[in-house]
This record gives sequence, C-alpha cells and structure tokens, in this order.
Amino acid sequence: MQTLREVLKHAQQVGKAVGHFNISDLTLLKAVVEAGRELSVPVIVGASEGERSFMGVRQVAALVQSIRDEFGLPIFLNADHTHTLASAEEVARAGFDSIVFDLSALPFEENVRRTREAVIALKSIHPSMLVEGEIGDIGTGSEIKDAMPDLSKSLTTPEEARQFVAETGIDILAPAVGSMHGMSRSMVQGASKQHLNIERIAAIKESAKVPLTLHGGSGTDDDDFRRAIAAGIAIVHINTELRVAWRQGLQGSLAAHPDEVVPYKLLPPVVASVKEVVESRLKLFNGVALQAGAAHV
Ligand code: G3H
Ligand code: ZN
Repeated sequence: MQTLREVLKHAQQVGKAVGHFNISDLTLLKAVVEAGRELSVPVIVGASEGERSFMGVRQVAALVQSIRDEFGLPIFLNADHTHTLASAEEVARAGFDSIVFDLSALPFEENVRRTREAVIALKSIHPSMLVEGEIGDIGTGSEIKDAMPDLSKSLTTPEEARQFVAETGIDILAPAVGSMHGMSRSMVQGASKQHLNIERIAAIKESAKVPLTLHGGSGTDDDDFRRAIAAGIAIVHINTELRVAWRQGLQGSLAAHPDEVVPYKLLPPVVASVKEVVESRLKLFNGVALQAGAAHV
C-alpha cells in the first residue's frame, strides 16, 4: 500500500490530482469509497472539526482503517480545517494520514509561528502524518450562499508561499487562488461557475515547491480544474457539491417512499446521489481518458 506522500508524488508526476471529499456520515463515506473503488483511484476522505464532532475522531479513523484493511484500497483520512493544537494532537494520536492546520484567519507572522510549532508537535506524535498549512482568505462554510464574496484581491503571493513553506516546514500548502468555500444559489442551479487564477497557481507552485491543495472546489468550471491541475494542484477539496447531492437524494427518497421507516431502505438513493458527483469529479481529476477499473496507483 502506497503512503499518501507517495500517492501525491505520483499524481504530480503524471499530471493528476487526488480528490478529497468531506464526509459527516456513513452514506457519504460509502459513496466516496464505492466511487474510488470502481474507478481504481486513490481518494482522501476529509473530516473537519464539525464533521469529526458528529462522527467521533477515533470512530471515523477506525472506519477508514477498516476499509483500507479489508479491501486494500488507497483511501486516506484527512483532518480538515483544524484550528487548535489540542484538536490537531487528538487526530495525530488517532492516526489520521494528514491534517489541514488552518490558522489562515490570523496575521501572517502569527500563522507562521504557530504553524511551525504545530508541525514540530504533530510530527513528534505521528511522524508520517502530512501537515498542510493555509494562507490567504478562501471564505468559510461549505454551504449554499446568497452571493459569493469577491476574494480576488487577497490571493496568496508567490513570495508569501515561499516564506510560509520555508519557515513552517509544512508538507502541503493551501493557497488562496480564486476559489472559496461554499456555492452560490446560481452555482447550485448550474447557472454560473467558479473560476481560478491559473497563472497564480503556477507561480505559487514554482516558489513553494510542495504539493498544493485547492480548497473550495465546489462549483468550479471543469476546464479551470484541468488547467489548475496542470499548473500544480495536487489535491482538490469538494464538500458543498456532496452536501447538495446528499440532501437532494434524501428528499427524493423520502418523497418516493412516504411510509418507509427502514433506514437501510431509504438511504441507498442518498449514497447513489452523492456517488454520482464523486465519480464525475474523480474522472475529471484523474484525466478524461480514465476507464473504470483501470489501475492508477
Ligand atoms: O475543505 C473543504 C473544502 O475546501 C470544500 O469546499 O465546499 O466549496 O467544495 P467546497
Ligand atoms: Zn477547505
């Protein structure tokens, strides 16, 4: 079984990105696992602080580990958007493969200092866990919003990226390159798309020299995704699109079976609805020529 570090290295060598999908229950986990398994591509399951508080830190770690052991799948677990060292140390002890240590709301120098301290502390607990640091403003909340804020003036600069990586010792960098968390109503309806600053991604990749993560992937134009991956994005985070599919699947199932009370009869359409989104994103991130069943790791 390859490590996440090896999977990321390979993805960058062949111009692909690893899909990262947030989960907060078993239907979402099943959808991500089934999609990754059918396409034979690696996937990262993400659980933010809120998602972990619902599922349980050790419980989600045990679920993912059991799937990896039983099916031999390249499925990895990331502690998404973690804002305190105490919470970060908890996931390190639980054996997560990676963490997004996110102090991006703090002033740059304080973010540098405290992220460096976290890298040292976390590696002393779990030496192989990859630590991702974050700079710049990409908004908060994987939710439907009336309008998306204009964050184009606060993109990460290549020099900030170089300094942040050099001074913190992080393994992965999440820069602000035009995407933001959540989706507008018009994006949910498919009437508008999110666009990325491809030139900035390429310049940051050149100066940071570590794998880059694109956060806030929901609602992004397909061609922008392809060009962003070619420019150096190694991981793409998708959450809101899955939450929308989860809700639509659930509403449809409840409406179709008004008297049904058996969860395992009502929930398969929810899994199917989310899986369709995950599959479509995984195909895009792993190249258009991908055929179901082809080995890519
Ligand atoms: O960390 C999670 C993400 O960056 C997801 O963002 O909800 O806009 O897809 P999204
Ligand atoms: Zn994010």
